[in-house]
Amino acid sequence: MKNIEWSSLTFGYMPTDYNVRCYYRNGKWGEVEVCSDEYLKLHMAATCLHYGQEAFEGLKAYRCPDGKVRVFRVEANAERLQNTSRGIVMPEVPTELFTEMVKKVVRLNQEFIPPYESGASLYIRPLLIGTSAQVGVRPAEEYCFLIFVTPVGPYFKGGFCANPYVIVRDVDRAAPLGTGMFKVGGNYAASLRANRRAHEQGYASEFYLDAKEKKYVDECGAANFFGIKNDTYVTPKSSSILPSITNKSLMQIAEDLGMKVERRPISEDELDSFEEAGACGTAAVISPISHLDDMDTGKVYNFGEKPGPWSTKLYNTLRGIQYGTVEDKHGWTTVVIE
Ligand code: PLP
Ligand code: COI
Repeated sequence: MKNIEWSSLTFGYMPTDYNVRCYYRNGKWGEVEVCSDEYLKLHMAATCLHYGQEAFEGLKAYRCPDGKVRVFRVEANAERLQNTSRGIVMPEVPTELFTEMVKKVVRLNQEFIPPYESGASLYIRPLLIGTSAQVGVRPAEEYCFLIFVTPVGPYFKGGFCANPYVIVRDVDRAAPLGTGMFKVGGNYAASLRANRRAHEQGYASEFYLDAKEKKYVDECGAANFFGIKNDTYVTPKSSSILPSITNKSLMQIAEDLGMKVERRPISEDELDSFEEAGACGTAAVISPISHLDDMDTGKVYNFGEKPGPWSTKLYNTLRGIQYGTVEDKHGWTTVVIE
């Protein structure tokens, strides 16, 4: 294993030894290439640079206490990238190719997979970009699919602890019939202004209401929202949020733990009734929300300064499945290194 201060890692980029790449030309995917260069040589008129033909994914590999390395829900990430590809007219990366490349890049960089005790993990970042030149607005003919990895610590300082969020009304990350349900760079570009302001004001992240009516809950920055009341896990249904794989898993785990699960529109007024609330995602895992400020109305929604009992149970079960200490009864993990 590399000599790295694993337990002081934050969620950032660190160079590793290899990335893997595959090119789409003449209507088909080529051979997988192993590369040690961190840079790409791109045509200056590539569609990814001008017209946002860019999609990415995010998943993690975990070094487990039984000595194995597991990745979480790799097929679900492949399927979401395929859906995103259909959304912005790019060729689909087949699930087998996606999975083969994930396994390869993790194995090639195994010295960078943090030890179990550190609480850190290996973040896997697949990226699909249009590479051929266009000046008119139309899809590229050629694409590059690449995957790099980087060891990461918690997305929010302190890991599993409650953080404040702030509702924004003057910025939308995605339109109701736009690209919010796809994992494309443009959504993140649209969020940067609000995200920077939230950080400057001391919040963990900005919190979006639906773009059309500003009445319903959408997302917590780069994570989905869930609220808990009366032993029920409630999460928004909206056309402009990213279908989070973590959230999907938590809905199943909640059910397995005996909770009721509801996926439906959540009005801002309803926020007052939740006993616990949190943000969830690959990077965020579960990040409980301490309070949510609505600066326009002066309203503050309080969910507790400490992670609540259901959030803690959900967090421990999810982590347990990812680290192979809780039975993986839904077949979510893939052992990459025995
Ligand atoms: N919502 C947004 C906007 C995201 O960027 C992410 C991160 O991927 C999520 C939600 C959480 O999704 P997942 O759990 O699949 O990582
Ligand atoms: C993730 O949770 O994987 C994300 O993509 C969040 C952010 C780093 C974009």
